[in-house]
Amino acid sequence: MIQVLHISAECYPAAKTGGLADVVGSLPKYQSESGVLSAAIIPKYALKWMHQHEWVTVYGGSIRVDWRTVGFTVQQEKNNTLGFPFFVVDIPGLYDRPGIYNDPSGHPYGDEVERYIVFQQAVLQWVLSFPEHERPRVLHCHDHHTGLIPFMVKYCPQYNGLAMIPTVFTIHNGQYQGMFGRSSLHLMPFFESSAFGLLDWNGIINPMASALRCAWAVTTVSETYLYELHQSSLGLEGLFRDEWRKQSGIINGIDARVWDPAIDPSIQYRLENNDIQAFKLKNKKVLCEWFSLPEDQPIISFIGRLVGEKGCDMLPDAYRNYIHAGGKASFLVLGTGEPWTQNQFRSMTYQYPGRFNAIIDYNEGLAHQIYAGSDYLIMPSRVEPCGLNQMYSMRYGTIPIVHTVGGLKDTVPDIGEPGGNGRGIRFDQFNLGDIGWAIHRAASMWHSDPHAVATIRERIMALDFSWERTIEQYFTVYRNAGAAIRAERRPTPPKQVEAPVEAAKKSEKLIPKETTTGTPAKKAAKADAATKKTNAKPSKKK
Ligand code: GLC
Repeated sequence: MIQVLHISAECYPAAKTGGLADVVGSLPKYQSESGVLSAAIIPKYALKWMHQHEWVTVYGGSIRVDWRTVGFTVQQEKNNTLGFPFFVVDIPGLYDRPGIYNDPSGHPYGDEVERYIVFQQAVLQWVLSFPEHERPRVLHCHDHHTGLIPFMVKYCPQYNGLAMIPTVFTIHNGQYQGMFGRSSLHLMPFFESSAFGLLDWNGIINPMASALRCAWAVTTVSETYLYELHQSSLGLEGLFRDEWRKQSGIINGIDARVWDPAIDPSIQYRLENNDIQAFKLKNKKVLCEWFSLPEDQPIISFIGRLVGEKGCDMLPDAYRNYIHAGGKASFLVLGTGEPWTQNQFRSMTYQYPGRFNAIIDYNEGLAHQIYAGSDYLIMPSRVEPCGLNQMYSMRYGTIPIVHTVGGLKDTVPDIGEPGGNGRGIRFDQFNLGDIGWAIHRAASMWHSDPHAVATIRERIMALDFSWERTIEQYFTVYRNAGAAIRAERRPTPPKQVEAPVEAAKKSEKLIPKETTTGTPAKKAAKADAATKKTNAKPSKKK
């Protein structure tokens, strides 16, 4: 019986734009393995992964929206590829589109409000169809896209049969609250009018605020981020403070099987005999060759969405200043996002050949190689609820350079702090001076103290960021919210058809379609050949 149902807009590898997907794609797996069977459900987008997998329809229904009726089906992925029961809601007309939030030209879909209201209801209608004793014991909602569920089960008579199931709401990103005006209220299912105040926040319907009030428990993905939300959360500060009793911060884990340098199929050289230096050196050579960077300088990489929240708009100037001041480090960027930032990075590739290169693409496989081959990973995030990239990079011996914020603060103590347990380099103020100084510290340590670099690499690679460490904290939250979850006999491990990374690798080339280097085609061909070579021969890896 499914004990925990995770409801979300993203789940890796089926549909991903960011860390939310990574969490929803791995937390249920580890919960299930520890005996608490957990499942996930997301909308069925018209994405490649959806087409490549087989689906079994498990439920069909319809939702009334305003004057229309929208039909939907719930489908389960047939082969249990993700290692836990994975469901999608197929809603023709609303989600059969090639993007998750935006159309291919980058514009957000205009009917977001309707899409999420229908998705949430479809999930609830499906859960209502379960015999009572087989219903999940917790509805675990992630981010604003699912923020109306705690309200709906309490105050919409249609879904009231689920009111006794505890709802847990996890905030991965408090910047997006899903707000909409009263003029769209007619899209909501009928609700008790006296409950209107639980939807409304300062004259606007705010799903995140509603979840904060209606969910039985609220979590965020790090303790520091929870504290920050109490100080600044786009107008919800008072609400966060009022509801503090039911809140907790739980740092995310990472899927230590997908992110394992000893077996990762997406990297050119795997970790063998725990020889960290050789692992780093060989993978760095690969990056230097692919992206025309020198080997005698540290490579500082940025991976992620090129959006303001991640602070990457500071990097062009920070890098220019550093290079013009004669600094000896080179820089790599992988990601897509805001046009201004993309263009800055594109032109810098031509301005600083051999020092800077940008790959304007979303490429999971290449990201693994960059984690393995870089010396440093920079995360200048303005806001970072948890951050997973710093954990991935540490796992691959790449030292993080981070802004002291949110989960970055909780996971990356500075190497200069007393105690000798530092993991990276931090800067406290979000300005060019501080970022520049952090880059300078990193590069000069690399040039002058290779021993220190080696020691830090060893230390960070030995860290345990796996979910096993943290899922107990979620179980405690569920139990405190009154959910009768219990570990059952460990289920036989579900059939793992194909490791997600393997699948991702097959469906994409390691080298992206668009690099801003002069000879992308040649490099791509080289990279492809190299991949085939290294992955073909079974090496002596552990
Ligand atoms: C969001 C946050 C990121 C967090 C992730 C998973 O993407 O921005 O910090 O790690 O969700 O919780």
